[in-house]
Amino acid sequence: MANLEIYNLIVYNLLQIKLRNVVIFHCWQLPVLLPLAQLFSRNLIFSQFISLSQSNESLANFSKVYLDSELTKIGVFLDLGCEQSPFITNESSRAQLYTHRYHWLIYDEDGNMNTFVELFERANLSINADVTYVKPAKRTDPGSLFILHDVYNQGSQLGGKLNITIDQSIYCNQTECEPVEYLSELHKRSRLQQRTDLSGITFRQVALVTVIPLSSGEEKLLEFLNSEEDYHLDWTSRVGYRQNVHLQELLRFNVRYIWRNQWSLNDSKGGALGEVTNANADLSTSAFVLSPERLRHIFPTAEVSEFRSICIFRTPHNAGIKAGVFLEPFKLSVWIVFGAVLMFSGILLWLTFRLEHRWMRHYLQYYVPSLLSSCLISFGAACIQGSHLIPCSTGGRLAFIAVMFTSFLMYNYYTSIVVSSLLGSPVRSNIKTIQQLADSSLDVGFETIPFTRVYLNSSPRSDIRDLVKHKVEGRNPSNIWLSAKEGVLRARNQPGFVFVSEASFLYTFIEKYYLPHEICELNEIMFRPENAVYTVIHINSTYKELLKQIQLRMMETGITQKHKFFYTKTKLHCYANNYVINVGMEYAAPLFIALLLSYFASIFILMLELAWAHLGRRHLQHFITAE
Ligand SMILES: *[C@@H]1O[C@H](CO)[C@@H](O)[C@H](O)[C@H]1NC(C)=O
Ligand SMILES: *[C@@H]1O[C@H](CO)[C@@H](O)[C@H](O)[C@H]1NC(C)=O
Ligand SMILES: *[C@@H]1O[C@H](CO)[C@@H](O)[C@H](O)[C@H]1NC(C)=O
Ligand SMILES: *[C@@H]1O[C@H](CO)[C@@H](O)[C@H](O)[C@H]1NC(C)=O
Ligand SMILES: *[C@@H]1O[C@H](CO)[C@@H](O)[C@H](O)[C@H]1NC(C)=O
Repeated sequence: MANLEIYNLIVYNLLQIKLRNVVIFHCWQLPVLLPLAQLFSRNLIFSQFISLSQSNESLANFSKVYLDSELTKIGVFLDLGCEQSPFITNESSRAQLYTHRYHWLIYDEDGNMNTFVELFERANLSINADVTYVKPAKRTDPGSLFILHDVYNQGSQLGGKLNITIDQSIYCNQTECEPVEYLSELHKRSRLQQRTDLSGITFRQVALVTVIPLSSGEEKLLEFLNSEEDYHLDWTSRVGYRQNVHLQELLRFNVRYIWRNQWSLNDSKGGALGEVTNANADLSTSAFVLSPERLRHIFPTAEVSEFRSICIFRTPHNAGIKAGVFLEPFKLSVWIVFGAVLMFSGILLWLTFRLEHRWMRHYLQYYVPSLLSSCLISFGAACIQGSHLIPCSTGGRLAFIAVMFTSFLMYNYYTSIVVSSLLGSPVRSNIKTIQQLADSSLDVGFETIPFTRVYLNSSPRSDIRDLVKHKVEGRNPSNIWLSAKEGVLRARNQPGFVFVSEASFLYTFIEKYYLPHEICELNEIMFRPENAVYTVIHINSTYKELLKQIQLRMMETGITQKHKFFYTKTKLHCYANNYVINVGMEYAAPLFIALLLSYFASIFILMLELAWAHLGRRHLQHFITAE
């Protein structure tokens, strides 16, 4: 019986790709189907039988009723010999069911290819269609030979042609099937790899240009996208354009442009992104940052670069007098211990002097300095000053040397740290986060780009909310929203002015307008987390797997990287060597003030001493006259 051979073929075909769910459209009598049902259950295949002998009305919603499921892939068998088959194929085409989600096995008993071509010529077949056309070749007793064809279309809506390629022949008898011979090269590579020739179809590509008016004509616009000048302008679009040119060379498709001058109006609507989410465009030159809302409409094919929004500002110089620099080298505990050591050694010195005076007269120590003088001597040692009074005994001298040596080490540490902190690196601001920025007194400006506005208005981050409250609300918009060039120049001329924009874009202007030491002085804060930008296509695009594979290959070969490095800057170079540092008054002033205060203090003490001496003399005179 011939049917059993076809049944074996169905099961063989399904098991080859490990598919265990199948829908059978047939017009056989029920008893005849029994062996097939038994075969399915023996092979653990879930099946559903739909008879095509019913009226069109009862079949009307078949795609919704039988084929709309959560499964990633379903097998569908269709007997082309049935009267209602054209209805099924027509409806499947309308519902766009010829995609990778459905594994179609279309059996044609008559083997008349022309009928098949007629049915499928204008159908919505896609590049990722999984359709196998089967016809019997000849009866060999026992069993029969079947010939399998692979069917797809490069894209019926975009001008693609039906492609039927012979694949292999399979021998089936009553009990089993086995492949006989390959009739083409199809088995050598995956289906998708076979279908990389898209010549003849025309992609609609949405191209984004914001810096020249769209009315200047396609030639001008293309020239801009192609050019290598001012590469920072619209770089996301130009990187993507380059990328797509390579795609075009590899896949040989044609391109029709849809020009847009906006990324998007809100998260997912309008502008270039809107064309992709509406499925009006198959490709986009511009790469986009992803968001949960966007991911519901678009499919990211490859990462092409990063998008970094940053805040830059020069450290404000009028940040007050900095006495800290001279105390900074040591921690408070070190200062206290050092002071204590000096005091202690002062006392020890004094004791030494006293002992020498008492027990070692022959050493000619005729004078014993007071405790205060001994402490002064040890303080002098700390300031690398020698003393005319030194102990005469060997032990005392050794102790004195120890004090001098400790002071020498401390002093050298101290001076080198002061020097390096003053001259070593440019002064950085201690504002490191958006929250600190929001709480500071610095002025903030933003580049006028829509998504910054959207981000400021819609971000749930509390630091961004604070930033908006303190720095944006209630201020004159013309002081806040600036062009990139204006903002960069203002940040240069007015230390402390904070400007927010895209990093690669900013760096170009900074390198152009800033002196090397001004670059070194720049502080950078992340405005929002760094995001990758992806080339995108519509989420239901039938080309997504193909484009993704090709773009991954481009990534592996380094083409993507090359474009990224050409069009974006990731780093500013601070050449510290040619940086002339001037230590300003803010560092020296505390020292001078301290000096002035100590002059006053010593004059005051001098006065006190003079008064004391005067009083003493009067007292003496009084005493003498009284005698
Ligand atoms: C199938 O569609 C074609 C045109 O697309 C039409 O000519 C034909 O009559 C349709 N057949 C059925 C059975 O609906
Ligand atoms: C192809 O699909 C579109 C959109 O679903 C549909 O409007 C059109 O009629 C289909 N074409 C054919 C030939 O089925
Ligand atoms: C079916 O074919 C296989 C392999 O060619 C063979 O071993 C088997 O005997 C055949 N079965 C029948 C019933 O002819
Ligand atoms: C049909 O597709 C095969 C690969 O599946 C390809 O080798 C062949 O060139 C295509 N034929 C036409 C006419 O495009
Ligand atoms: C974007 O704008 C469209 C209309 O302009 C609106 O329908 C949609 O809700 C907006 N989406 C978001 C996330 O704001």
